[in-house]
Amino acid sequence: IPVDPFDLVLFGATGDLAKRKILPGLFHRFEVGQMPPEARIIGSARTEMDAEAFRQSTKDAIEEFTPDSPNRAKTLAAFLERLDYVTVDVSSDQGWQDLAQVLRPDVVRAFYLSVGPSLFADIAGRLHECGLATPDSRIVVEKPFGRDLASARALNEGLRACFEEHQIYRIDHYLGKETVQNLMALRFANSLFEPLWNATHVDHVQITVAESIGIDGRGAYYDQSGAMRDMVQNHLVQLLCLTAMEPPSKFTPNAVRDEKVKVIEALDPVEPADIARGQYRADTGGDSYRDHVGNSSSSTESFIAMKVSVANWRWSGTPFYLRTGKRLRARESEIAVVFRDPPHTIFPNVGRLRGNVLVIRLQPDEGITLRTTIKDPGPGGLRLSEVSLDMSFADALGADVRQQDAYERLVMDVIRGDQTLFMRGDEVEAAWAWVDPIIRNWEETGDQPAAYDPGSSGPEEALMLMHRDGRRWRHIG
Ligand code: BG6
Repeated sequence: IPVDPFDLVLFGATGDLAKRKILPGLFHRFEVGQMPPEARIIGSARTEMDAEAFRQSTKDAIEEFTPDSPNRAKTLAAFLERLDYVTVDVSSDQGWQDLAQVLRPDVVRAFYLSVGPSLFADIAGRLHECGLATPDSRIVVEKPFGRDLASARALNEGLRACFEEHQIYRIDHYLGKETVQNLMALRFANSLFEPLWNATHVDHVQITVAESIGIDGRGAYYDQSGAMRDMVQNHLVQLLCLTAMEPPSKFTPNAVRDEKVKVIEALDPVEPADIARGQYRADTGGDSYRDHVGNSSSSTESFIAMKVSVANWRWSGTPFYLRTGKRLRARESEIAVVFRDPPHTIFPNVGRLRGNVLVIRLQPDEGITLRTTIKDPGPGGLRLSEVSLDMSFADALGADVRQQDAYERLVMDVIRGDQTLFMRGDEVEAAWAWVDPIIRNWEETGDQPAAYDPGSSGPEEALMLMHRDGRRWRHIG
């Protein structure tokens, strides 16, 4: 779908996220012809440089972070012509008038703040004071959106002092992932699943976001955050919401987000006994969290598993188990909906009949799998086995269908003015309100995470969380 002409101002244009994700994402949209000829991207940062130098650094980044193709050089040259650069020191008066001069009055204006949250309110204020923000402008902000409820509220207030909620786009890049949206399609574009999607038929749900990387050069940020703030408060809560929410009456931004907020508000407080925290620690030095973050006494968790109850009519009695961590056995993310066992077996000597499992695989190899029980072929009486009906998107849709990266989809949604895949202010605050007491309890009791081996599937305590309920985690890797 083509988009209207736009001026996208990218604050933090020389930063890592801009180079790895945002600029390559925009380039991909340009490659497929979705960017109108009048579209412009104006890089902005404190670094003094001219447009030519910005084009060169963008060229280097795109060459490094996008796959080569026969036409890339030619397309890239045309893309770079869309780029401009204005030096702005966001903490002073410097540069704002220069920026005002390059912006055009009659196109969509989007300000993308790929900068730390401490600068959100300042930048929003300057955009407002200098008259750069029009009533139709959009402002896009990255996570972390606060580190607790109070700071998230302050960020919301700072942004709302200058922009209306319908102009504010809070990014959670998990919402831009193909399979995450496919979860909505699966649930609401099919008639098979929704009648079974409740506590009567679902035994439990497992949401896993496992990463094999450690804290790669991000120690200063991560050690202040931990898995709870870095992953659970945002990405895992979003996955939980999309799995648990009621069908919205329409696919409109507020109808979808209203339903997600209701899920977060229905979450019961989590008991300490229902949480397992971990930190990777190698027996022989080198590959340990504390070494990586340079803090020998850190008690920040690099892993968390928890049992969560959605206390509403649909889900009462069906727990959601969440798990995420760094330096695990594999990079693997999925939502597994585990259905109840068949209530009775008519087959003699086949043992327990296990419930079906519907797995929505987010990464790698995005797809959907349904574990079913069938008759084992061959002679020798009736034997049963479990097989998976497996649908890999790459196979089903053709390997040449390139999956859009989350960022390219989300940036284009900003230009289109579609907030469906962005978090609303009340949603972020509701998630912090649920997470805050958990973290406060750790701080007050001096809770220490359990050690786990790098390359494992997390600490023993996480396994116990399931075992004690007579259930098991799905295998990682
Ligand atoms: C980010 C977290 O939001 O998401 C990182 O800050 C994490 O710690 C990353 O590695 C995971 O994203 P993805 O898309 O690689 O699963």
